[in-house]
Amino acid sequence: MKLVIVKDYAELSRKAAEMLVSEVKANPKTVFGLATGGTPVGMYRELIKLSQAESIDFSQASSFNLDEYVGLSSTHPQSYRSYMQENLFNHINIPAEKTYVPAGNTTDHLAECARYEEAIRLAGGIDIQVLGIGNNGHIGFNEPGSSAESLTRVVQLTDSTIEANARYFDSVDQVPTQAVSMGIKTILGTKKVVLLASGEAKAEAVRLMLEGEPTADVPASLLQLHPNVTVIVDHGAASKLTTSVLAGTKPSGS
Ligand code: F6R
Repeated sequence: MKLVIVKDYAELSRKAAEMLVSEVKANPKTVFGLATGGTPVGMYRELIKLSQAESIDFSQASSFNLDEYVGLSSTHPQSYRSYMQENLFNHINIPAEKTYVPAGNTTDHLAECARYEEAIRLAGGIDIQVLGIGNNGHIGFNEPGSSAESLTRVVQLTDSTIEANARYFDSVDQVPTQAVSMGIKTILGTKKVVLLASGEAKAEAVRLMLEGEPTADVPASLLQLHPNVTVIVDHGAASKLTTSVLAGTKPSGS
């Protein structure tokens, strides 16, 4: 895995946005894999800025989001569909019908998960997948214990994830306890991954991802099995890495 250490969140956001822009410039039909949560908000802001400044064309692109809460309708303010509309889709010219977010409120989750995998396959696979990382090492909502063979499915959220996400809801009781999430195998099947982590709260998960053995106990460590991963971290998220991992990386900025 390639490690890029940047000085702060602003630089992390800029670098990640630049990667997405160069992808769509090189291939207008790019299939994006997208994440929600706090970390990529800055990246989406930068992406919108760059797209407007350089008239970047997303008219032939498509996107697949990692996950959605079970039980929330797509119009619920805390749904990941709403997040994506607000933070990105309403501001670029990607066709609405080519932005896929799993449906969390269907009557048949199994069918929805199979349909999602099939839609990714029919699109030709994901060209570039953006990931954040949970404090517990999750990617997507693949919580510790998720198998490297897992596909899109309904997952149970851990207490630590529910607590971490309670900041977006009025109270912790309102946080859904399940989600539909792309699986580890789905993520490992993407062509390129860019994982973003900011702040000291992520430092231990980042260390285990990069320095530990690949294990389902730390789902992000399974990315070691992927041939093309770039991890962009700021100084806080890099603070627990050892010198052997740091050797060969060049901190950018001061
Ligand atoms: C979001 C997702 C999650 C988040 C992770 C980190 O679609 O799948 O894995 O990336 O929980 O969240 P933040 O960025 O809020 O710390």
